[in-house]
Amino acid sequence: MAPDGQISLSGAIAPNVYDAEPIPAAAMEAIQQLLASGDLFRYTAAKDSPVALLEAEFAQMMGARFALAVSSCSAALFLSLKALNLPKGAKVLIPAFTFAAVPSAVVHADCIPVMVEVGANYRLDMADFAAKLPGADAVLISHMRGHTSDMDAIMALSDAAGLPVIEDAAHSLGTQWQGRKVGTIGRVGCFSFQSYKLVNAGEGGILITDDADLAARAVIMSGAYEENWKKHPGFADSLCAWQNKLPLYNLRLQNLSAAVIRPQLPEVDRRVRDGLRNHDHVARRLNQSAHLRVPDALPPERRAPDSIQFNLIGAWSDEAALRFQAEAKLRGISVQVFGLSQGNARAFWNWQFLGDVPDLPQTRAMLMRACDVRLPARLRIEELDFIASALLDAAKVALP
Ligand SMILES: Cc1ncc(COP(=O)(O)O)c(C=O)c1O
Repeated sequence: MAPDGQISLSGAIAPNVYDAEPIPAAAMEAIQQLLASGDLFRYTAAKDSPVALLEAEFAQMMGARFALAVSSCSAALFLSLKALNLPKGAKVLIPAFTFAAVPSAVVHADCIPVMVEVGANYRLDMADFAAKLPGADAVLISHMRGHTSDMDAIMALSDAAGLPVIEDAAHSLGTQWQGRKVGTIGRVGCFSFQSYKLVNAGEGGILITDDADLAARAVIMSGAYEENWKKHPGFADSLCAWQNKLPLYNLRLQNLSAAVIRPQLPEVDRRVRDGLRNHDHVARRLNQSAHLRVPDALPPERRAPDSIQFNLIGAWSDEAALRFQAEAKLRGISVQVFGLSQGNARAFWNWQFLGDVPDLPQTRAMLMRACDVRLPARLRIEELDFIASALLDAAKVALP
């Protein structure tokens, strides 16, 4: 990765694409109060702790009945799988293009990930999905980098097979499918508040669901020990039944994180709008090159990107692709070609903790030519043009 803000070949300062937006000032007051009182644990106050308020606000924003804030999206995925009560060794379909934390959550939940091919547009290959569905026990769809797979087909096939769907919407806050909020389509939706996501708390996650019993099991397992479940308003009856019947994995969020997240929720719509504008501006410019292609969104999808992915198309060798990465870096822009970046956590063949990983030629081919560049919503038009020009120049030099 190139250090950001470095001088590029042209002598100009390349935009810093890693720093997040400042946290809204309203967080400061809440944090100072928490520091002064020392009240950092979500269950100390009888009610209305910052974590409980975040859950209520997030559920309302998403139109979901229940929300449970936890320590990360990975924790939310793990708890969702546990709360589904899947038997040990259950097979869980996942896209072969996702972050290593996703198969890890499946393994952590004592289940077996079954990888499904992903196409050149970064979305699930529906023929491979349909072929692998028989014999599966659950479906976990990662909307990787916020690219939504065909949720109509996924839900129709999964419903017909009686399989629950978990949506990994780590990167999809604000994304819509047929006008529905991504993360509310499956049985459970999981989101991340890690710093490179639309809402930044450093770390953190949340799950949402309309399923009262699933929510209750997740609350208990997240660490609502003894009668702390009473501090989850609206859950009470279903929660009581599970007290002491489930293990406590203690994956709670703390109040300071909630204080950082809550004032960012009103910023989501603006960040979505700006992120999409930024993405589409750079996409239009990159698509002018015969060697670069940004795949179209699916027609029912309204995206909320904070990064851009594009494919090297045409006669690119691995060497030329690496040259492109190096030339972009010389111009101050960090590009990762997923499959060519050493040890990349998004390349399935690096998930050695799974043992023998089957080959998935279609996903492999995509990863070898798919490029990833961060594009946070706060970037200005001249910064976007700097990035687009650097990438276009790098492509020209790398593949003359
Ligand atoms: C697609 C996807 N799912 C899940 C996660 C895990 O999120 P967290 O870091 O909050 O555990 C990530 C992290 O980047 C991700 O990209």
